[in-house]
Amino acid sequence: SVQIIRIKSELRAQIKAWRMEGLTIGMIPTMGALHHGHLSLIRQIQQHVDKVVVSIFVNPKQFGPNEDFDKYPRQETADVMKLEEVQADLLYAPNPEEMYPGGFLTNVSVSEITEGLCAAKRPGHFDGVTTVVTKLLLQCLPDMAIFGEKDFQQYVVLKRLTLDLDIPTQVICGDLIRDDDGLATSSRNVYLSPEERQIALEIPKTLQQIVKDIESGAIEQGKLSLQEILDKGTEHLLSAGFKEVQYLEIRRSEDLAPVVDRLTAPSRVLVAAVVGKTRLIDNMPIRVS
Ligand code: PAJ
Repeated sequence: SVQIIRIKSELRAQIKAWRMEGLTIGMIPTMGALHHGHLSLIRQIQQHVDKVVVSIFVNPKQFGPNEDFDKYPRQETADVMKLEEVQADLLYAPNPEEMYPGGFLTNVSVSEITEGLCAAKRPGHFDGVTTVVTKLLLQCLPDMAIFGEKDFQQYVVLKRLTLDLDIPTQVICGDLIRDDDGLATSSRNVYLSPEERQIALEIPKTLQQIVKDIESGAIEQGKLSLQEILDKGTEHLLSAGFKEVQYLEIRRSEDLAPVVDRLTAPSRVLVAAVVGKTRLIDNMPIRVS
């Protein structure tokens, strides 16, 4: 069964023991309320490493003052059962004092790619993410860590972080998992009423339509401009019942560089929109011909 550790010195001792046996280690940082998206990351990393460490830590530093830190779902008992089903080896679940003892003053910050998209309406969010993930990776020192394509900007930022800081962990991207109805699986989907969930389904539909319009060559044929395609998408989401479309943009996949007029490299359409009180994000890749 899955071993539960809450203290970083004990985590290090277990990792050291595994290292002595010549075993390789993979890590999946999470905030818990585990779902199929998280479990899929575990299964993917199990293909590459001998031992899998899952961390659960609802990181106060990445939530804004008016965000859902207090009501974020916490359900460790259910999470442990799911970890046993997929045969994860270790759950690392530190408490806030273990992570941020009194006197903590350091901030880890990645520039440029943390501006725009999710950062625009969530100032300081990515500093919170990069600070906690730096700590988690240094506490565990895994050979590999996996982050989901669902939070694509976060993946690009964390890949940059480990390269820039020489953290000896290979960062890979795990597939985006969707529920049967097409909505990207998220711990925050529990906030949605049935009516809101119906509205939320317009996100994947809208992204699919945008991908289709672009891949069909509508821009090259002069039928629609990139801006018109995106404006149509935003209008569709607002008329479907979204309260706000925080962004709907196309960016280059490799480094999130803005795409103007035409796509010349693998790109993605990314969106954040608010239904009721819930903020949802999603993204899809676009092929270039
Ligand atoms: P959390 O939202 O719990 O997500 C943990 C990991 O699961 C992230 O890498 C995220 O991209 C991935 N994930 C979530 N939903 C997914 C889905 N539907 N398909 C594929 N992967 C999915 O992201 C965080 O936590 C935090 O910011 C964290 C990195 C743990 C730092 O606190």
